[in-house]
Amino acid sequence: MAKHKLIIDCDTGTDDAVALMLAALHPEIDLIGVTTVFGNAPLTATTANSISVLDLIGRSSIPVHAGMPRPLVRKTMPSERFFKTDTTADPHGTYLDIPRSSRQATSNRAVDWLIETYRNATEPITLMPIGPLTNIAAAVAQEPKFAEWVPRLIIMGGGHEVPNMTPSAEFNVWADPEAAASVFEAGFKDVLMVPLDATHRALVTAEQCAALGALGTPAGKATETFVTRRINSYEEMQKMDIPNSAPVHDALCVAALVEPDIITTRRHHVAVETTGTLTLGRTVVDTHFRGGKEPNAAVAFDANAQRFVDLMMEIFAKS
Ligand code: RIB
Ligand code: CA
Repeated sequence: MAKHKLIIDCDTGTDDAVALMLAALHPEIDLIGVTTVFGNAPLTATTANSISVLDLIGRSSIPVHAGMPRPLVRKTMPSERFFKTDTTADPHGTYLDIPRSSRQATSNRAVDWLIETYRNATEPITLMPIGPLTNIAAAVAQEPKFAEWVPRLIIMGGGHEVPNMTPSAEFNVWADPEAAASVFEAGFKDVLMVPLDATHRALVTAEQCAALGALGTPAGKATETFVTRRINSYEEMQKMDIPNSAPVHDALCVAALVEPDIITTRRHHVAVETTGTLTLGRTVVDTHFRGGKEPNAAVAFDANAQRFVDLMMEIFAKS
């Protein structure tokens, strides 16, 4: 029997796609459902991408519930680019380079589904948000006991020394800062934050990408396609310390679920800046315990890059 029951809340996206495949194919994970949110692309595309990825690897029985199309408060954030509803035109490359599934979302009530699933859960189910935190914050707002019911929350988001959206903020948190702030304040009992500081320590190189593709499996080949796209875009916009490499942020969260030692963490208090202009969406990690507040999260600062790639090689070799 799988050791970890898991729900992934995602904005699929190339790195979300790798995370979904790793979770859906790992024998120790039972991915019981996927919820989607706007983010890397409009909700219509993140939902279609999630379904297409699962279908590609033969996991079409995993339900996908569409969630929030916009941030909780900021109706014009992040920008119009993220809210286009046209499903045919693809001006920003928001669809993944894999066959588009005709399967529809199981529902468009992801927040209700999350609440009901945790209300009725008889076993622990880890919740892993790897996109903007809008669905999770909406569930917290709608059901006061939601945070209490979730045994473990693993968040890909934030950055202490490494930003990627503004000089100070990471995308998932920046895209809905009020949602992120409320999630960190909600009292979830076990929070792991995997920020850019850790994901940038687990870069995947072009050579490793080719080796994943050479596995010849649907997951291996798709990972090569997705990560190559990431490497090309990082080479163009933000060169990494290792030439021809890219972080695959979201998949590191899945790796950390099954192999906790793959990351190195410290416990700190984390809050989200919602009022600053320069610092909007910054995760303020109290690394030197200056704020007088108890730690509310384990924060990952480092990762074992080789083990991360080896894990993907092992899991994607099989399907
Ligand atoms: O900042 C990286 C995060 O933003 C990843 O989850 C990526 O998929 C996007 O959602
Ligand atoms: Ca994501």
